[in-house]
Amino acid sequence: MEQLLSQIEAYKKEIEGFAASDGKAVEEFRIKWLGTKGIVKEIMGEMKNVPADKKKEFGQILNEFKLFTENKYENLRESTGNRQLAPSNQLDLSLPGDPIPLGTRHPITLMRNRIVSIFQRLGFAVTEGPEIEDDWHNFTALNLHEHHPARDMQDTFYVQQNPDWLLRTHTSNVQIREMEKGKLPIRGIYPGRVYRNETVSARSHCFFHQVEGLYIDENVSFADLKQTLYFFVKEMYGKDVKVRFRPSYFPFTEPSAEMDVTCFICGGVGCNICKKTGWVEILGCGMVHPNVLSNCHIDPNKYTGFAFGMGIERPAMLKYGVNDLRLFSENDVRFLKQFTSAI
Ligand code: DAH
Repeated sequence: MEQLLSQIEAYKKEIEGFAASDGKAVEEFRIKWLGTKGIVKEIMGEMKNVPADKKKEFGQILNEFKLFTENKYENLRESTGNRQLAPSNQLDLSLPGDPIPLGTRHPITLMRNRIVSIFQRLGFAVTEGPEIEDDWHNFTALNLHEHHPARDMQDTFYVQQNPDWLLRTHTSNVQIREMEKGKLPIRGIYPGRVYRNETVSARSHCFFHQVEGLYIDENVSFADLKQTLYFFVKEMYGKDVKVRFRPSYFPFTEPSAEMDVTCFICGGVGCNICKKTGWVEILGCGMVHPNVLSNCHIDPNKYTGFAFGMGIERPAMLKYGVNDLRLFSENDVRFLKQFTSAI
């Protein structure tokens, strides 16, 4: 023990007195004292010969000695300007790198991009709007005044502190925001997330996604609406798919319609997906109601327009064979990594 202690003291003196004029000398110092066969390592190995009751005290002395040597080495390196890594730590640039796993796009994003890009090719510009919205943009300006019964069609989440604020129930709020900007004509496509107070199950969720379209100009007619949507369906579902319009009701359009396509699962023969009807409903649409135009300071005698809105989850479920809506929001990587696509 005593011998070891005086040995350490002698080493310390030697180290203290050591001076290096270049990097080579510093490296020699490192090998001699701190290398894998160096003195520090060797002396640390003496721990095993130390009696148990002295181990703690001695361990500290050894650690101090190691630190002392390492500090000296750092100082030497700094003073000689040799800041390169020591050879044993040097990077081997020829080694293969750590792989960075590539993520995949979410299936809702894939479907959203597919839908949006078809309309972009027709000159529709993409805009997004706020998810926390006021009553005016989500309801009132869309011709749903305070006591309008159609408000009950959509169960709304309200912001507690201010009942004038809510989570938008549809992307139609972006229509209003775009019209209010006062720049005409408008040809826009508005994708986004919407919220409704519904029980979460395989078939319904408290949030989901929609894409809204709006076209306002002079002389826009229902024929333009049909032709635009025919183009969309052919691009989206193929040339053989048939389309039908059914009269419907939305407060913000007049006339209003819902559009069905022949079931792309069974080809129109009838299956579980289309409830044996051969048709699948894909969107709501219509000519923008004159009240809505007036609410946004657009003259309904000069301008007309059409609008449409569709969900993203349903076509995504059908395309990718997903049978439970909840999978989309659970962030399970085993589910998500199955979707790869260029868009
Ligand atoms: N906002 C409607 C909904 O969420 C969808 C919709 C229907 C949008 C007709 C429109 C439209 O722009 O013209 O159910």
